[in-house]
Amino acid sequence: AYVVTEACIKCKYMDCVEVCPVDCFYAGENMLVIHPDECIDCGVCEPECPADAILPDSESGMEKWLEINREYATKWPNITRKGDAPADADQWKGVPDKFEKHFS
Ligand code: SF4
Ligand code: F3S
Repeated sequence: AYVVTEACIKCKYMDCVEVCPVDCFYAGENMLVIHPDECIDCGVCEPECPADAILPDSESGMEKWLEINREYATKWPNITRKGDAPADADQWKGVPDKFEKHFS
């Protein structure tokens, strides 16, 4: 499966949801997650993300993000249409350590 990672936090561009053929994105306040059991591994969302936040769960260090995606995909609502990204999204692009203070 593919997972959404820290780079999405406070960027939340949502280009990803427009291309997913199985609508397996779920939206929190500051980021999205992918339901890893619904993702069919097509890979089309990965290059769509302007923040490079989407990665295959086979990459090293993805265990934590796989767990987070799995957990919050069952808590947050499904999202299938791109909304407006946060006004300051570009300022958060590439900022490190967003998880601790801004995960939601
Ligand atoms: Fe959806 Fe494909 Fe991305 Fe999985 S890899 S979340 S199925 S677009
Ligand atoms: Fe997040 Fe990238 Fe989608 S910033 S909302 S994973 S397009």
